[in-house]
Amino acid sequence: MKITKILDKEFIPYLSSEEILVRIEEIAKQLNHSLKGKDPIFIGILNGSFMFASDLYKEITVPSQISFLKLASYQGISSTENIKKLIGINEDITNKTLVIIEDIVDTGNTLDHIIKQLKKYEPKEIIIVTLLFKPKAYKKNFKIHHYAFEIPNNFIIGYGLDYNGYGRNLKDILILKNQQNENK
Ligand code: IMP
Ligand code: MG
Repeated sequence: MKITKILDKEFIPYLSSEEILVRIEEIAKQLNHSLKGKDPIFIGILNGSFMFASDLYKEITVPSQISFLKLASYQGISSTENIKKLIGINEDITNKTLVIIEDIVDTGNTLDHIIKQLKKYEPKEIIIVTLLFKPKAYKKNFKIHHYAFEIPNNFIIGYGLDYNGYGRNLKDILILKNQQNENK
């Protein structure tokens, strides 16, 4: 078993780039069907979704746009409040079909925050696409319309996802060693 060391932790293979790309093609096919005539705007959430957004968007054939947003902590507000604002909104998203591209939905808190802020602009609809979904960690009720893989409640890296900022460049998705059989 190939072991990849990132900072102080060891990771082992979990999902290959080939498997990932096969699922992306499947999701793109569904989206190309369901988004026909909707003139959607895809919105990648930085940083984690950049690889997924890129590979997914290459398979999208309906007329559409893509943009990227990032959650940033407010400056000057007590860090205990953990208030984050969404930066980078510049297209007119009012009355548009938005397709949010996320890397991973864990508790769902991040996405909840993003959806609440986007709703202020009164888009026509918000469709959620995530590469990975951890159903055992998920605490929210909103629908995850498309996910490529359902995964256990373990820590993974690669294909855009990081451990303390490292590991995003890996083509495959790796899982923390000795954690892979827990919570399955
Ligand atoms: P949530 O707000 O709990 O849904 O967490 C979402 C965010 O936590 C993601 O956008 C990731 O940045 C990070 N995250 C959650 N699980 C993992 C993981 O297994 N590996 C790397 N990052 C993760
Ligand atoms: Mg993320």
